[in-house]
Amino acid sequence: MGSSSTVDLSDIPSVDLMTELLRRIKCADKPDKRLILVGPPGSGKGTQSPIIKDEYCLCHLATGDMLRAAVAAKTPLGVKAKEAMDKGELVSDDLVVGIIDEAIKKPSCKKGFILDGFPRTVVQAEKLDEMLEKQGTKIDKVLDFAIDDAILEERITGRWIHSSSGRTYHTKFAPPKVPGVDDVTGEPLIQRKDDTAAVLKSRLEAFHRQTEPVIDYYAKKGVVAHLHAEKPPKEVTTEVQKVLSS
Ligand code: AP5
Repeated sequence: MGSSSTVDLSDIPSVDLMTELLRRIKCADKPDKRLILVGPPGSGKGTQSPIIKDEYCLCHLATGDMLRAAVAAKTPLGVKAKEAMDKGELVSDDLVVGIIDEAIKKPSCKKGFILDGFPRTVVQAEKLDEMLEKQGTKIDKVLDFAIDDAILEERITGRWIHSSSGRTYHTKFAPPKVPGVDDVTGEPLIQRKDDTAAVLKSRLEAFHRQTEPVIDYYAKKGVVAHLHAEKPPKEVTTEVQKVLSS
């Protein structure tokens, strides 16, 4: 029996091979980038990440998505994380640092990465910087999705998600073509368990108390760019592109 990592390329449709080949050619010229997206729940991190990921050929590591996948699969890590997540509290630093340490070594992160939802505490930021220092790299830019709390409730309670792809919709701001159904696959959309007004209050509280200091931590290193995250998605994308091309 061959190794489980051996792939028979003749089984892969030509169009997929060509698409991947063209992507690799386009990516070869892109500069490496190591980015952090920081902002409160609903500030648009998950909306902008896929756009940045495609533009710069980076991997997108969203600790919230990784933890939700672990909860759904009922892994030992997921069982530990579930209680804190349901209440809108943060899970332990050691748990998420371990997840990221492993993930950034993957080949898809070769050109760099977008960290979405990590680091969320100063301890996590310090551990991340230690990890990167060992690899001889560092964070290039921290995008601060600055926005007033008052705007977030409407964004969060109207959000619908296609769970397997991570595509997000909004009943008012980004509605799917058919209500409740993913535009690409036709599969049903779901709402996150913590996307209620009540749990949002705890999530915002955790953000202001534990995550805002992370912005100050990186501001001292001179790598923070502040965005106007209350603007419409396309305008936020334009701001991001300006910051990343400078
Ligand atoms: P996580 O999944 O990271 O959630 P979050 O930070 O609360 O962020 P969200 O995904 O809710 O917001 P977003 O900014 O991505 O918003 P989106 O773009 O979808 O974390 C969940 C939980 O996991 C945590 O509470 C914690 O328990 C745990 N956890 C995760 N990481 C951890 C860590 N490092 N340490 C410890 N615990 C951790 O936008 C929202 C909606 O608004 C969408 O519907 C979208 O269509 C719409 N929208 C987006 N942009 C705009 C715009 N510009 N104008 C109008 N509408 C917009």
